Amino acid sequence: MAEPQLQGEGFRLRPWRADDLDSLLRHANDEQVSRGVSDRFPHPYTQADGEAFLAGKVIDLGDPVFAIEIDGEACGGIGAQAGRGERVHTAEFGYWLGRRHWGQGTMTRVVAAYAPWVMRELRLYRLYAAVLAFNVGSAQVLRRNGFMEEGVLRAAVFKRGVLHDLRMFAKVRRSLDDER
Ligand SMILES: CC(C)(COP(=O)(O)OP(=O)(O)OC[C@H]1O[C@@H](n2cnc3c(N)ncnc32)[C@H](O)[C@@H]1OP(=O)(O)O)[C@@H](O)C(=O)NCCC(=O)NCCS
Repeated sequence: MAEPQLQGEGFRLRPWRADDLDSLLRHANDEQVSRGVSDRFPHPYTQADGEAFLAGKVIDLGDPVFAIEIDGEACGGIGAQAGRGERVHTAEFGYWLGRRHWGQGTMTRVVAAYAPWVMRELRLYRLYAAVLAFNVGSAQVLRRNGFMEEGVLRAAVFKRGVLHDLRMFAKVRRSLDDER
């Protein structure tokens, strides 16, 4: 995928690079980051985990998957994966940010740049995210960006010995000409 010009106040989005390994390990090896995301993002987050991710063995880096670069350093990530067949116009997306950058509105701005772009790029009618019920910060990022809460998948995730409900948020458009 051609490198898009996606940026905002204090960050830019760009493809992951092999030389991101050190910063990836610094920001990703954090239980408080990993607890909100999929088990594909383990804790502890080892060098082997980082190398596997950067080699494209964890998620397909051919998808619109980007590092969030702050002050020249990869401090987090955002990515989407489209469905297949009759669901090709739907994508799920996810994101994370190193803890030292939380609480400054960064992810709200990152999603504001990324979501409209990826809906255009992948020709999506529907972009959605699944948020563990405790993750009020992530729910707020989505609400701030016009995602609507559609419902709760009860008892959907059993993670590290705890059962979680999953809140579903989506942004939809009924026409590909609709820029919303
Ligand atoms: C969730 C996460 C992405 C938020 O990123 P962030 O850059 O700190 O978010 P923002 O600063 O843009 O905050 C957005 C809003 O959420 C609120 N918020 C953020 N973290 C919060 C928290 N832990 N508790 C309560 N509110 C929180 C902010 O106050 C802000 O509210 P406002 O818009 O009313 O001012 C970040 O905490 C993170 O990476 N967590 C670990 C990974 C993760 O959970 N990813 C999401 C998976 S669905």
